[in-house]
Formats: sequence, C-alpha cells, structure tokens
Amino acid sequence: MKIIVITGGSRGIGASAALQCAARGFGVILTYKDNPDAAAATVRAVEAAGGQAVALRLDVGDAASFRAFREAVLQALQSVWGQTRLHGLVNNAGYGLYNLMESVTEEQFDGLMKVHLKGPFFLTQALLPLFAEGASIVNLTSATTRVATAGVAPYAAFKGGLEVLTRYMAKEFGARRIRVNAVSPGAIRTELGGGLTPEFETMLAAQTALGRVGEADDVGRVIATLISDDGGWINAQTIEVAGGYNV
Ligand SMILES: NC(=O)c1ccc[n+]([C@@H]2O[C@H](COP(=O)([O-])OP(=O)(O)OC[C@H]3O[C@@H](n4cnc5c(N)ncnc54)[C@H](OP(=O)(O)O)[C@@H]3O)[C@@H](O)[C@H]2O)c1
Repeated sequence: MKIIVITGGSRGIGASAALQCAARGFGVILTYKDNPDAAAATVRAVEAAGGQAVALRLDVGDAASFRAFREAVLQALQSVWGQTRLHGLVNNAGYGLYNLMESVTEEQFDGLMKVHLKGPFFLTQALLPLFAEGASIVNLTSATTRVATAGVAPYAAFKGGLEVLTRYMAKEFGARRIRVNAVSPGAIRTELGGGLTPEFETMLAAQTALGRVGEADDVGRVIATLISDDGGWINAQTIEVAGGYNV
C-alpha cells in the first residue's frame, strides 16, 4: 500500500482529500492541530469506507517540531503498514484571516507566513528522506493569488510564494522522480476564516461561471488525482479549482 501525509486532514478540504485518496487505495497519515475529535472522525470515515488512516498532531507553524514529526511518521509507517517509505504529501493545513493592509499587525503577518509558506517549505524538507521514488507532493494555494481580494493580502502573497516554491520543488526533486503541483481553490464551503456568510456566498456564486461556490469534495478529488498515477505526467503546475472564478 502507498502511504501519504495530509496536513490539516481533520476538516474541510484536507478531510475530503483523505477520503478521496483512501478510496484510491492510499493509506493516509492525516494531521490535526486543535481538533483531535474531528481528526478521529475523519479516520473513522476512512475506515468505514474500507481504508486505513491514522491521525497525528502537528502545528505547521512550528518548524522546530518537524524533525520529531518525521520520527512519528516513520513510527506510524512501520507499526501500521510495516514499511518506511512515503508516497505523497499534501501541504494543506491553513487558516484565513481577514484584515485590511492598513491594520495588519506584524504578528498576524508572521503567523500567516509561518503556516502558509515557511511551514510547507521546512515540512517538505523534513520529510524528504522518507519519500519513495515517484512520490507526489500537492501544495494548496488559492485563487486569491490571481484575483486580488481586499482583506487577505498577506495570505494571498504567501500562497503566491508557495506557487513559486511548487515549481522550484518540482525542478529540484525531479531527479528523484518526485512530482510537485499546486491546487488553487476558489471559494470553497468550509470553516476557513469562519466560513461563508449567505451574502458573501451569493456574491461569489455570481462571479463564478458555474454559478455556485465549491464544495470540499470538488477540491479533494483533484488532489487525489494529482497524488495518484492518474496525474503521473502532471508536474510543476498550478491547477485552479474554482468553477471558473472571475473569468
Ligand atoms: N476554503 C476555501 O475557500 C479555500 C480557498 C482557497 C484555498 N484554501 C486553502 O485550502 C487549505 C484547506 O482549507 P480549508 O478550507 O479546508 O480550511 P478548514 O476547513 O478551516 O480546515 C483547516 C485545516 O487546517 C488545520 N490547521 C489550521 N491551522 C493549522 C496549523 N497551524 N498547523 C496545522 N494544522 C492547521 C486544521 O486543523 P484543526 O482543525 O485540527 O486545528 C484543519 O484541519 C488551506 O491551505 C486554505 O488556505 C481554502
């Protein structure tokens, strides 16, 4: 069985990706930060569908903890699956913060940078020794990198950095036949940033060619495709998954 790590797999897009990847035969190590119960519920849902998953705690904003996390991943690989190799990583964990540039604090800026750019960089670096040849990495970015949306400037800027990093990872890891792509969702109905108000949702749907906001499964399915061999010749790309947002 091929095993992958999904950060922020307790809820939203990450939980959907866990289910979609498990349905394609992957064993899943999903992480949570503040919601162990949600993580346990995702593990149960994977198991109920016939898959295998375990949940580990991880704060993606705490790069100093990544070496210990790698050891925990290795232990799970050995104890649950009897192997030592990883076949994928989804850098998905994240949070939203609405604040106009005139009032963003340095602490807010640094917090977003740690989770959305520094975390994916150093977590990927920490897990590199575990990757099998042919592994696949998916980084979650955002359509806010393409369409400027007032109130999310630092978030969007770090997601933009992660898109650039995606191409550099693909270039450097290609020698090991590791593929790296970014998935860039539009507005998706999750709890990110407190969720969508009905008014905001109506406005976003009107700006979307397909006339609605996205669901977590709309994105989870694309992540699973990129992780699996179906996406085997897709590399160094950012794929917007947004139903035709602001086109
Ligand atoms: N929803 C959208 O409209 C949208 C649009 C574009 C991009 N995205 C991106 O898609 C990704 C997933 O978002 P989502 O909508 O699924 O969000 P969500 O429903 O709020 O779930 C966020 C997940 O990330 C975890 N998490 C948050 N902060 C973390 C941290 N510091 N360390 C480790 N884990 C952390 C949470 O874990 P706990 O609950 O256990 O704390 C949870 O599993 C994010 O990177 C987000 O920026 C989302």
